[in-house]
Amino acid sequence: MNILYFKELESTNKYAKELAKNGESEFTVIIADSQSGGYGRMGRHFCSPEHSGLYMSIILRPRLKPEQSLYITTAAAVAVSEAIEKIAPVKTGIKWVNDIFIYGKKVCGILTEAGFSSGDTLDYAILGIGVNIYTPKDGFAAEIKDIAGSIFDSPKDTNIRDALAESIIGNFKAFYSDITNKPHLDKYRQRNIVTGKEIKVISANDVYTATALGIDDDFRLTVKDANNNITALDSGEISIRM
Ligand code: BTN
Repeated sequence: MNILYFKELESTNKYAKELAKNGESEFTVIIADSQSGGYGRMGRHFCSPEHSGLYMSIILRPRLKPEQSLYITTAAAVAVSEAIEKIAPVKTGIKWVNDIFIYGKKVCGILTEAGFSSGDTLDYAILGIGVNIYTPKDGFAAEIKDIAGSIFDSPKDTNIRDALAESIIGNFKAFYSDITNKPHLDKYRQRNIVTGKEIKVISANDVYTATALGIDDDFRLTVKDANNNITALDSGEISIRM
């Protein structure tokens, strides 16, 4: 495995994508101390100050069909959850599809970006993981301060970031080696914090309230809307109604 460290990048995902397009091999890992333009799902800014988090992207070349991309994101979610619980005395939960929560606050976001070629499997996938290890020294920005959290309140002496990265990569590799058999499905279901909750579903052209019923065998979230129609979501965004 090849890990490339940078002091600052615009975005580790963006950098990894360029490398992947130029033929860089699987499991090349990019880690930056900070990102000037880190981004998340729906193009949202991902706050990435130095001395505060793990900002990491992994180049993958999975033999998966595009509709199986969820397998990667969900395996990463379980890998991160287990790694966090190894380094800190906390309990994590996964909010479908890829957010890790501690005590009701989001501490990690995961963004998988796939590259397609003419075949029926993905050409490459970039697995981007951003973990808030410490609360930034000036606090979280006003627009996220009510939802964002961190694993620890204040910095520790030891290099927790690299230990966390190593643990995440190890956990993820174990799932990935057998990914078509979805070895992480039970663990994902056990950690999922959405089942049974009233949620708001935000899709490309619709917003509606529903009840989350559970995670199906392809990691889709099954929901029941106000008219009792049951749908399996494979993309889009949800928020849990308090
Ligand atoms: C989300 O919460 O919507 C996903 C956030 C993903 C952020 C990570 S940080 C490392 C990698 N580089 C990026 O620009 N984004 C991902």
